[in-house]
Amino acid sequence: MAAGRGTGGVGGASVSAPYEPAVGATHEWYTPPTLFAALDLVFDLDPCSPMAGPVPWVPAARFYDAAENGLVQPWQGCVWVNPPYGPVLPRFLHRLVEHGNGLALLPARTETRAFQAAAPRATVVCFLRERLHFIREDGLQARSTYPSVLLAFGDQAAAALGEHLGWTVRQ
Ligand SMILES: C[S@@+](CC[C@H](N)C(=O)[O-])C[C@H]1O[C@@H](n2cnc3c(N)ncnc32)[C@H](O)[C@@H]1O
Repeated sequence: MAAGRGTGGVGGASVSAPYEPAVGATHEWYTPPTLFAALDLVFDLDPCSPMAGPVPWVPAARFYDAAENGLVQPWQGCVWVNPPYGPVLPRFLHRLVEHGNGLALLPARTETRAFQAAAPRATVVCFLRERLHFIREDGLQARSTYPSVLLAFGDQAAAALGEHLGWTVRQ
C-alpha cells in the first residue's frame, strides 16, 4: 500500500480527485501520515483497521480489523478512531466516548446526532484548518470534499490538539 505524494502540512498532497464517501462506497480511505506527524502522538490501539493489514503509518501498537470487529474487542490505552462511515460510525464514536481515552477523526457534520452526542463530552474539539487528503488502498490520494474534526477524550489526546491544527475548543 503506497502513500500518495506528500507536500507537507496537515492536509497532505495536492492530488485532485475529490473524496466523498457514499452509501455503498469503500471504507478503505486512510488517514494521511501528515496528520499523524502533526499530532505527534503514539496510540495503544487502532480498532478500525483494514482487513489487508494495518495502515503502515498509523502509529498504534495494536489493531483490530472488521473480521475481529473492533467494536466488540477490549479497548486499552489511548485509542485512534477513524471509523468506517455509515451506520457503524456512531457505534465506534459512542464506544470511544465511553472509553474516555483517545482521538476520533470525523467528517465535521455538526448537525448529525452522532456529533452532537459526542462533541459535548469531548475534552477538546478541533475543527481542522485544512482539508485532508485521504489515501485509498491502491495509493490514490484525494482531497476530501468535506471538512474534518478531531474529538479528543482524556488528557493525553487533548494535549496533542491545538491551534496549529485548526480552531480548537477546550471544554
Ligand atoms: C476510514 S478507514 C480507517 C483506517 C485506519 N484506521 C486509518 O486511520 O487510516 C476505516 C477502517 O475500518 C475497517 N472496519 C470496518 N468495520 C470494522 C469493524 N467492525 N472493526 C474493525 N475495523 C473495521 C475498514 O475495513 C477500514 O479499513
